Amino acid sequence: MKRLIRGDRRRPLAAASAAAAALAAATLAGMAMLVPGSAQAASTLGAQAAQSGRYFGTAVAAGKLGNSTYSTILDREFNMITPENEMKWDTTEPSRGSFNFGPADQIVSHAQAHGQRMRGHTLVWYQQLPGWVSGIGDANTLRSVMDNHITSVMNHYKGKIYAWDVVNEAFADGGSGQHRSSVFQNVLGNGFIEEAFRTARSADPSAKLCYNDYNIENWSDAKTQGVYTMVRDFKSRGVPIDCVGFQSHFGSNGPPASFQTTLSNFAALGVDVQLTELDIAQAGSTQYGNTVKACMNVSRCAGITVWGIRDSDSWRSGDNPLLFDGNGNKKAAYSAVLSALGSGATVPPDSPPPSTPTPPPGNGGCRVTYAVSSQWQGGFGANVTVTNLGSPVSSWTLTWSFGAGQQVTQAWNATVSQSGANVTARSVDYNGSLSTGASTSFGFNGSWNGGNPAPSNFALNGTACSSG
Ligand code: G3I
Repeated sequence: MKRLIRGDRRRPLAAASAAAAALAAATLAGMAMLVPGSAQAASTLGAQAAQSGRYFGTAVAAGKLGNSTYSTILDREFNMITPENEMKWDTTEPSRGSFNFGPADQIVSHAQAHGQRMRGHTLVWYQQLPGWVSGIGDANTLRSVMDNHITSVMNHYKGKIYAWDVVNEAFADGGSGQHRSSVFQNVLGNGFIEEAFRTARSADPSAKLCYNDYNIENWSDAKTQGVYTMVRDFKSRGVPIDCVGFQSHFGSNGPPASFQTTLSNFAALGVDVQLTELDIAQAGSTQYGNTVKACMNVSRCAGITVWGIRDSDSWRSGDNPLLFDGNGNKKAAYSAVLSALGSGATVPPDSPPPSTPTPPPGNGGCRVTYAVSSQWQGGFGANVTVTNLGSPVSSWTLTWSFGAGQQVTQAWNATVSQSGANVTARSVDYNGSLSTGASTSFGFNGSWNGGNPAPSNFALNGTACSSG
C-alpha cells in the first residue's frame, strides 16, 4: 500500500485523474482490488506500473549517467534501479577489508535525486568475485569474510535499498537441482546460503532479502524445483527470506508457458516474486507482453526490471533484447509492455513488510538439555542435547548467551563460534538432519571465572527452546 501512495505522490499533479484518486482512496480503505480501467493509462513504464502498486526498473551503469539520451530515458521511464556491476564484490571489496563504494554511490545519489528506488545486486555470487576470496580454503576465514562483506556493504547502504539480491545464482544448471560448485559451496557447504540471509537480516532489517537466479522460470525444470525446495525449507524453519528474483533472460520465444504458474507457486510460499533482469532476444512484442502479464496476474509479483535501457547497453547487445533501440527510440515491445502493465487482469502486490518470520503452524519448538560434565579451576566441559519438536530440519543452528563471561574454547560434533556473550553452534555434515522428535548431542570445553551458571535462552533455528 505504501508503494501505491509513493507512486501517486511522484506522479505529476496534472496526471492524477479523479479515477486515480478514487483508486488511492479505495486502496487506503483496504479495498485492494483494482477495477479494470479504473485508473487512467499512464504514459511511462514506471507510472503505469505504479498504478497497480508495482515498480518498473532497469539496470544502470554508473559510467553512462553522463550520457543525456541515456539519463533522459532513465528518469522518464523507470522508478527502480539496479546497478549493473557496481555493487558486485570485485568492485565493492577488491581487497580484504578495503571497500570501494564510489561507483555504486554515484548511482544511489542519482536515484535519490530522481525519486527512484534501488535494488542491491549482489552480495554473494561466485562471479565477479576477487581472487583473494575465491582462494580462501579455510571455513572459519571464509565465513567471517562473507559475513563481514554482507554486513559492511549493507551497513553502507542501510535504509537506501528496497531489496538486496543476497545470494545470486547458487544453483547448478542441468538436471541436478543441487547447488553449483563455488568457493562458498565447496568450503562452507550447503549452509552458506542460510548464513548469508541470517547475516543480511541482522545488517539491515528494513531491506527485503531476495534469492536471485536464471533459468528458474519453467516450473518443470530441476533447477526451479531445487530453488523452490530451498525457499520452502527456509520459510518452514524461519530463515529470513522475503523474495525470489527471476532473472528472466529469455530467448526469442519469450517466457516458458508455465511462467505464471512458477511465479504463483513461489508466491504461495509467502515470498514476493520479482522479474529482476528481463531481456528477450529480438524483443518480440508478444513475448514481452506475455512476460509482463504473468507478473500482473500474480498479486505478489512486486515489479519488473529490464537489464539495460537501449539495445546498445545490453550485455547481449547482438540480440537486440531491450525496449529502446540504440538511438533511444521506443521499440514495438515498449508499447506491448506499457499496455500489459495497464491490462485489466491486474492485482496489486500485497506483500507485508519484512518481519521476523513466525514459525509454521504446529511448530513445537525444541528442548535443550545442558549439562556441565566436569569443571576445574578456570575451565569446564559441557554436553548439550537438542531435541527438535518442530518440523523436520536438514541443518540446525543453536544459539544461546552466557551470563557470566564464559568462553567456548573447543567444540566437537558442532561448529561453535562466539561473539561477546552470544554463542552459535551449527550442525556438521553428519548431524544436521533432525526429524520431529529426534535428538542430537554435541560438546565443548570452555573457560569461566567467578561463576559458571547454565544458560537458559536457547533457540534452534531462531525458535526458542525450553531447557533444563
Ligand atoms: O570495467 C571493465 C573495463 O575496465 C575493461 O576494460 C573491460 C574489458 O573486458 O571489462 C570491463 O568489465 C566488464 C564489466 O561487465 C563492465 O562492463 C567485464 O569484462 C564484463 O564481464 C562485465 O559483464 C557483466 C556480467 O554480468 C559479468 O558476469 C555485465 O556487464 C552484466 O550485465 C552481467 O550481469 C549479469 C548479472 O549480474 C547476473 N545475472 C546475469 C547477468 C548477465 O550476465
